[in-house]
Amino acid sequence: MNEVRRDVFDARRTSRKTIDQSGVWRFREAVLSIDESEIITHPEGSTRLYERDGIFFKHEGENPTGSFKDRGMTVAITQAVRLGARTVACASTGNTSASAAAYAAQAGLRAVVFIPAGKVATGKLAQTLAYGALCLQVRGDFDAAMRLVLEASQRLGIYLVNSINPFRIEGQKTIVWELLQDLEWDPPDWIVVPAGNLGNTSAFGKALVEAREAGWISKMPRLAAIQASGANPFYRSFKENFATRHRVTPETIASAIRIGDPVSYDKAVAALRETNGVVEEVTDEELMTAKRDIDHMGIGCEPASATTLAGVRKLRESGVMRDSDRIVCVLTGHVLKDPDAIKSDKIVEIDPEISAVERILAADR
Ligand code: F0G
Repeated sequence: MNEVRRDVFDARRTSRKTIDQSGVWRFREAVLSIDESEIITHPEGSTRLYERDGIFFKHEGENPTGSFKDRGMTVAITQAVRLGARTVACASTGNTSASAAAYAAQAGLRAVVFIPAGKVATGKLAQTLAYGALCLQVRGDFDAAMRLVLEASQRLGIYLVNSINPFRIEGQKTIVWELLQDLEWDPPDWIVVPAGNLGNTSAFGKALVEAREAGWISKMPRLAAIQASGANPFYRSFKENFATRHRVTPETIASAIRIGDPVSYDKAVAALRETNGVVEEVTDEELMTAKRDIDHMGIGCEPASATTLAGVRKLRESGVMRDSDRIVCVLTGHVLKDPDAIKSDKIVEIDPEISAVERILAADR
């Protein structure tokens, strides 16, 4: 991999080939060694990097199914087809299932998803069903669904596409490489990521180590992984310098990260150590305030993604981050994923009369 020069990736940004337009496969030599004709791509990635109030936001909600999961899924489904799999499966809080369903449909595979009954956001469930996946609503939380799908994949010979699958991680590394590329390979001081099952945290650590080894960057950004305080096992472990692996019964409004026993714990610990990273927790109130602010910037995201900005605020307050630090928050999911989490009093029913319009506008100053 070391011989791949980053200007090869830069040159592909302006290419018209589908595979080069993919923000995953543009980095193909460092993702998966495979013949181009075998790749199942939408294409995905090539998301935008916004700057607002001095903070960068990499919007992974701009992926084909509205979350960062597509970056890992294109690689996992490509690999599934290569292995001759007929059925793929995952446990999910909703985004992985939507992505698996879409890529499985494209590849002509059957998708079976295991979701915590009643705990998946409306947009995500709708997508998963629309793309034709079989939905098993497990009576239990995500962690129970995860245990069940692990057993099912071992016993029933179905191909698992959760982030415990290393090919998912290979694809998700490209979030970091693409944002470095967006910044013309001048690394930020911090990369901030929501932390649930810890696949992304792991992928980001691996991406940064590989980027440094390949000579694409000379400075290591620090990772900040942010959890909801009601689903904070990784934060608890961090506070004890990772002496104990914690497990909790998760509860948070950010249903994407309502996870008490993250599967990629060990890899995420390594990622934190390699990047001199930190873990922070934010309350539901703090993350919902941050979500409203991101929404009102005209960007928008789902609740879990807003942990990033809420985390930055806390880490600045405690002095871990300085105001002058260059920070990239990774927004992991689209605003429409979780419409029920959108609260506003700016909706009024009126009669079809101009006087009503005048009255409401005057009151809304
Ligand atoms: N943000 C969003 C929008 C997510 O959907 C997830 C995870 C995360 C953050 C956390 O990422 O698990 O790699 O630490 N969603 C998974 C799913 C669990 O099933 O869609 P992580």
